[in-house]
Parts: sequence; C-alpha cells; structure tokens
Amino acid sequence: MLPKNIALCLAVVLAVFAIAACSGAEQPQYDTGASSGADIPVTVPALSEKAQAGETAFNANCALCHGPNAAGTGLGPPLVHKIYEPGHHQDFSFRNAVQNGVQAHHWQFGNMPPAPQVAEDDIERIICYVRELQRANGIFDDERGLAAC
Ligand code: HEC
Repeated sequence: MLPKNIALCLAVVLAVFAIAACSGAEQPQYDTGASSGADIPVTVPALSEKAQAGETAFNANCALCHGPNAAGTGLGPPLVHKIYEPGHHQDFSFRNAVQNGVQAHHWQFGNMPPAPQVAEDDIERIICYVRELQRANGIFDDERGLAAC
C-alpha cells in the first residue's frame, strides 16, 4: 500500500514540476523561435499604387526569406510583426537592412545579406508596401507610419 502511495505522490510532484517548468519558461518579449514567427496569417489590404510596385520589388528580392505578403518563411522572419512597427524599426532601418545587411539579433535565422541590387526607389516602394501590410494587420494605426507611401 505504502509504495503505491509514494509512487502516486511522486507522480503528482513530477507533474507539478513539469507544469511549473513549462509555464515558468516565459518568452522574453522579442525572443521568437525561428519557426514560431514564420508564415503567419496576413491580411492583404487594397494596396496603393506605390505599394503595389513595392510588392513586385519585394517578391523579386525579399520574399525568398521574408515570404509572400511578408509573412515569413523558414529562412527569415515575418516583417508584418510587432517588432517591425514604425516606432521600433523606423524606415531607415529598412534602408539600412537592404543596403548593409543585418546581423541576426531578434531571431535565429542567421544574418541577412545586403541586397545591393535593389535601387533606392525600390526600397522606398518596398517600405510603403510593408507599412501598408502592417497597418492592415493592426501592427500600428498611426498615419505617420505610412510616411514612405
Ligand atoms: C537571405 C534571406 C533574406 C533576404 C533575401 C532578405 N532578408 Fe531581410 N532579414 C533576413 C533575416 C534572417 C532577418 C532577421 C535578422 C535578425 O534580426 O535576427 C532579416 C531582417 C530584416 C529586417 C529587420 C532589420 C532590423 O534592423 O532588425 C528588415 C527591415 C528586412 N530584413 C528587410 C528586407 C528587405 C526589404 C529585403 C529585400 C530587399 C530583405 N530583407 C531580404 C533575411 C533575409
């Protein structure tokens, strides 16, 4: 009888530990696993003309990693994501990313190589495209976020 009780106690204790371990492992705000952010559902709004041109340039130069509709892939993060809102990643950080590349810091996909083939006008169009997607998906709701458009 006693061993059975002890076994039961042990099982309960272990279960409590397991639950504590899981719920206690709270993710730091921006520490997203490589797969958890990839390929998120994105609502595509009616795009402005500039954003449509941006989409074309994006699909040619960025979608390989950032995915169609900037929803992310196994190679790169979604740009329709709270961490890329205009207040945290201003437009210059997009220009900088394209021109100089990015050292991996938010995710675990590795570094982003620079994309020197993308002309400055196209970078502006791409920023406009990503901002319109972001706004349609509730990442921000301030007109100023659409400055590139
Ligand atoms: C070869 C894959 C790849 C391609 C192609 C690529 N990116 Fe990235 N990009 C990444 C990865 C990976 C990160 C995330 C780095 C991190 O923060 O961990 C990233 C991050 C970014 C960021 C965030 C920069 C920051 O300051 O944190 C922006 C903006 C961005 N990419 C824009 C673009 C645009 C625009 C294009 C197309 C011109 C593009 N990327 C093409 C892989 C790519």
